[in-house]
Amino acid sequence: MLLVTGASGHLGSLIHAGLVERGLAPLAGTRTPGRFGDAGRGVDFDDPAGPDLAGVRVLVLVSAGYGEDDVVLARHDRAIAAAERHGVRHVVYTSLIGAGDHLAFALAHRWTERRLRESRLGWTILRNGLYAELFGQLAAPVGGAVTAPFGAGALAAVARQDLADAAVRVAADPAAHHGRTYELTGSVALTAAGLAAELGVPYRPESLGVRRAALSGAGLLPFQPAMLMSIYSATAGGFLGRTHGDLARLLARPPRDPMPVAVAAAGQVPPR
Ligand SMILES: NC(=O)c1ccc[n+]([C@@H]2O[C@H](COP(=O)([O-])OP(=O)(O)OC[C@H]3O[C@@H](n4cnc5c(N)ncnc54)[C@H](OP(=O)(O)O)[C@@H]3O)[C@@H](O)[C@H]2O)c1
Repeated sequence: MLLVTGASGHLGSLIHAGLVERGLAPLAGTRTPGRFGDAGRGVDFDDPAGPDLAGVRVLVLVSAGYGEDDVVLARHDRAIAAAERHGVRHVVYTSLIGAGDHLAFALAHRWTERRLRESRLGWTILRNGLYAELFGQLAAPVGGAVTAPFGAGALAAVARQDLADAAVRVAADPAAHHGRTYELTGSVALTAAGLAAELGVPYRPESLGVRRAALSGAGLLPFQPAMLMSIYSATAGGFLGRTHGDLARLLARPPRDPMPVAVAAAGQVPPR
């Protein structure tokens, strides 16, 4: 049996739906199992008892990354320990692109990768690039211009649907991807200037300091400003622009163009 965690979230729901489409009858592991009827399985990594993975052979572990490192590490540890306890054969983990080591949320991903590699479980690590949807949201126009502090940096953004499609392919045939780590990006890198041009507005990059000051008064959770600032900083610093061919090979087709995805996401952010 297959189980996908985070099944109510953006990525997990797409993975779950893709596996359903393939007729693989996956379980939906989520904190809100009721919406999935008989396929729902209550999974809350914050429960110290750990999730019940009885009968699960392949676990798609979607990172539960919104939190401080100690919280996220504890969540992922409970998930992997439960997989070990319940005889899961293979874990597919949605991690972070290798180039993302400068990002504030990288540590939890690398810790989880190491925890898996040192386990006796079969595993595949999907190092997901940053979502094109996220780039669009972060670079959405403010006052008629794109003002985000991305400098001239490029981001090898990727459509969430492509990442889900890749996870579905791996989860459907885990033996073929045993012990493999994939770097998953789109095939072109996006810039804020390029996005602004698509949107027909000017790009007026602001400084990191101005953005940090704005975020500090935005009512975010304590860990969020550092996460967001690291995305701007690492992109502007040129660390996230490299594209890889793993996604095209896994999908056996070119990845979606991330630009229209980013444009659509930017359009969904209310004008400010
Ligand atoms: N590559 C990127 O650009 C990027 C951007 C943002 C986030 N991420 C990472 O990728 C993950 C998936 O992204 P997404 O867009 O699908 O995010 P999302 O829509 O916020 O979904 C995250 C899911 O994590 C699950 N989760 C959170 N806390 C949990 C807990 N205590 N126990 C069990 N599950 C828990 C939830 O699943 P249920 O609601 O089903 O319980 C939630 O829906 C995120 O959690 C984050 O780690 C990546």
